[in-house]
Parts: sequence; C-alpha cells; structure tokens
Amino acid sequence: MAVALRWTATRSDETPLVVHFVVEGMEPAGGSMAPDPVSAKRRGFSAKPGETMVDDANGSAASLYVGLGERAKVTGEVLRRAGSAIARSAKRYVGVHVPLGGLEFPGIALDLAAELLGIGIELANYQLDTFRSEPTPPVLEFAEFSDGDAAEVTRALDRAMAVGEAVEMARDLVNTPAGDLAPADFADIAKSTAEAAGLGIEIYDEARIAAERMGGLLGVAAGSVKPPRFITMTYEPESHSEEVPTVALVGKGITFDSGGLSLKTGTGMMTMKMDMSGAAAVLATLSVCARLGVAVRVVGYMPLTENMPSGSATKPGDVLRTRSGKTIEVLNTDAEGRLILADALTVASESKPDSIIDLATLTGACVIALGSQIAGLLGNDDVLIRQVQAAGRRAGEALWPLPLPTGYHSHIDSEIADMKNIGATGQAGTISAALLLEEFVGDVPWVHLDIAGPAWSEQDQGLVRKGATGFGVRTLLSLLEHYEPRGGVREEDADGITVLP
Ligand code: BES
Ligand code: ZN
Ligand code: ZN
Repeated sequence: MAVALRWTATRSDETPLVVHFVVEGMEPAGGSMAPDPVSAKRRGFSAKPGETMVDDANGSAASLYVGLGERAKVTGEVLRRAGSAIARSAKRYVGVHVPLGGLEFPGIALDLAAELLGIGIELANYQLDTFRSEPTPPVLEFAEFSDGDAAEVTRALDRAMAVGEAVEMARDLVNTPAGDLAPADFADIAKSTAEAAGLGIEIYDEARIAAERMGGLLGVAAGSVKPPRFITMTYEPESHSEEVPTVALVGKGITFDSGGLSLKTGTGMMTMKMDMSGAAAVLATLSVCARLGVAVRVVGYMPLTENMPSGSATKPGDVLRTRSGKTIEVLNTDAEGRLILADALTVASESKPDSIIDLATLTGACVIALGSQIAGLLGNDDVLIRQVQAAGRRAGEALWPLPLPTGYHSHIDSEIADMKNIGATGQAGTISAALLLEEFVGDVPWVHLDIAGPAWSEQDQGLVRKGATGFGVRTLLSLLEHYEPRGGVREEDADGITVLP
C-alpha cells in the first residue's frame, strides 16, 4: 500500500511525528527546529545527508531530525534520500508531518522539493506482503506536508504518488514468484491494468504468435509447459492528432530463466523470477501515463515466456527464423532474451515509431562491467541516447553509455545462419547482445537499457528494498514527460548527464 501524500494548512493534532530538516553546522534547513547540539553529538547525529534522529522526550508529537548535509550541496537526490530516511525512521508511526518552509535550493523550488521527498518516502516504504501467512508489521500510512502553495504542492505530491505507485507495481510483479506469475498471469494483470487506466491492449496467445511468425519467442517458449504471450498496449494522449509523436517501449518478459538446456547453476537461477523486469517496467510505466498527463503516444510491447529445459526445448545448434526473416543460430539457450526481443523489436519497428526504448535484464556481463546499481545504455542514435541519459539524471536512476562498434559485428557471425546468439568468449558480452538487437530495429532511433544489475537489490538501503527495485520506471516516465520528437536536448540537460550512486 502506497503512503498517502497530502498538503495541509496546519498540522493535525493526531500526527504523531514531526520532521525537522537540519543542515551541517546543526542549523535548521528551513523554518524548523535544530536539535540540541550536545545531545545530537552524544547520539552521533551530525546532519549528514540521510542521517536521522528521533526525539520523543517531550511534547505531543515526537521530533524526527533529518540531515541534509551542506546547504550548498543539496541536490534532488539528497532530497529523495531524505524522503527515504523519513519513511525508514517513521515506520512505527501511522503518519508524519513534513514542513516544507524554507526548503528551497538552487534549481529546486518548494513544490519540486515536495515531489522529491514524496518519491523517497514512497519507494523506501515499499513492502510485499502477499506471501506471508502472518500479517507484516504496518508501515507508514500518510505523510502530510505544510507550507508553500496548496495547489502546486498538491500537484507535486500527486505526481510523486503516481510515480511511486508505478514503481510499486513493477516491484510487485518482479517479486511475485514465477510459480504464481506465468506469461498468462502477467497478461491477465496487463488486461485489468489496461481496463482501469483506459489503455488499448492486444494479447496474442501461442497460436497467434506462431501465425505472426515470431520464431524467436516460440523457440524460447518451446521448452515450457506454460504457453507464451505477446502483449501490445497503447496509451493515446488527449490530443491524439497525427502530429503527436509515438514512443515504443519494449520489455524483456522471461517469467523464469532457468537457462534452458544450457542450464544455469542453482545459485545462478535463484533470482531468475526477476528476468521479466523489463516487461514489468513497461507495463507499470503505461499504467500511469494518463494520470501524469503524458503528451505523447506510448506503445508497449511485452514478449512473455519461461525459459525451461525439456524434451521439447530448443537445443544448442538449432536455428530459429525470426519474424523479420533473419535467422539466429542458438549456441547457448541461456542467451534467450535477445531471441524474444528480436521479434518484439521487429513488431515495434514495423509501425515506424519516432523512437524505440527497450529494457532488458539481458547480460551478466553488464553486471560485471557496471555493478548492481548502474544500467548499461546503448543505441543507434546519439541524440536519443542523450535524451534517455538526461531522463535518468532527472529521475535519479544511474545509466552509463557503452559503445556499439560496428567492428565487433563479427562477434555474432554464425557458421550456418545470419547470426548467432552469443558473442566472442569472454569479450564485450553486453555489446554483442546489443549488436544483435540492433539488427531488428531497422532505421528507427533506438536505445537499449541493460538493467541486469539494478533491477534487483541484495541490499535494503535508501530508496531500494531487498529484491525488485522497479528500475527503469522513473527514467521512462521522465523521458515521456520531456520527450523531444526530432531530437534536441534541453539546455539544462546538456551536461552532468548521469547521477551515480
Ligand atoms: N537473464 C540473464 C542475464 C542476467 C544475469 C540477468 C544475471 C540478471 C542477473 C540472461 O538471459 C543470460 O543468462 N545471459 C547470459 C548470456 C550468455 C549465455 C551469452 C549471461 O549473461 O551469462
Ligand atoms: Zn538466460
Ligand atoms: Zn534471461
């Protein structure tokens, strides 16, 4: 359950906890109170970003001191983390009061500060409680914000709730065990989401997928008893003139990746229910486009299947014919993401959108290169690459570019087919995967995000909880809200393009 975020003129007496923002030097950041320096020191609170201290010694409500660090260095990410620190410290309370007075920093107006704090609160407060027999302890229910313009702050908080709920939806989908979320289950959820959010939806079953000649998706699905699905979902903005640009979103939807006959190890497949994080991010993003008033047309493509070994599974050495007509020799059945994305990218490019963005937990190589908190970003169009990077920076998700050199194309040359599904042993695995994807986008500007690292977290820290992170949702929403059809990167986005953890 998301935290209700609302504006209030005055603190209601029932709110049991009040926040006081503090900057380094133990000064109040706004109109709020600073703690007693002696007791703060004794308790190890020095107002560094993310530090908190609760004081419930006196008064009707307890005080929650939240550090912001040096005033001159307060960024959007510092405020998001402050929000997450509030949610983490306020767990035992039903509600928290957040005075915004004075929370203005270079480039951050009061309403943006509210939104950033709100997102931090929403994301850190997340928990999945469907799979426990005992109810989990209650978390924070509401946060009320005071000061600033009521209408502006309310709009900012509504935005934070919409984005927060989308991230929560992606996390729920990814955290749900594969045994409870087969391709058909995912499609049922997509259908009810489309109905609730007023989106167009088309779901292909296995027969239709075959009729559509999606040999990549069928080849991966061949080993599973759970039939595949292919979902197309459409958001039409209010002004749906011909002029409105179209952005296609494609998400890898492997509901479980065992590796297929090229079986993973026990440890290697322990978290592989998360291999549909790309599709989850696409569905979750679409679910709030209307609420956020996104002004571009968005079409989401989600190829969904399990990757399982069995007597009917695709074997190493088999050749698949994709929808595009291009053939792929499967030398390792564990490199299955690119096979289903090949078909999905072909379908996406057929309707000539202005841009295609795909998200996929595609390669272990990307986790080795960039670790668990940074996504790889590759593409065929520098302007779109920069736009997506800028969206990541605004949203607070770390993306780092990798090259897509044509000179490495020989890495995917096959002896018998148009290409093979693995690259050169031990070399540039993220790049060879992306080079294969590039074969299927035609001349449409395209960006690929390899989210194998940041889609899942082993740590409970800051804005992420253990497990699914919902990575990509915030970047996609920010991109859609600021999308520039024929390229162009706004002045304010031109530099400092990546936020790093
Ligand atoms: N789903 C995995 C990639 C992955 C690994 C995601 C770790 C998240 C964490 C993907 O399908 C895969 O197994 N890729 C192989 C490709 C290789 C066989 C060329 C890999 O990265 O090992
Ligand atoms: Zn795999
Ligand atoms: Zn996979």
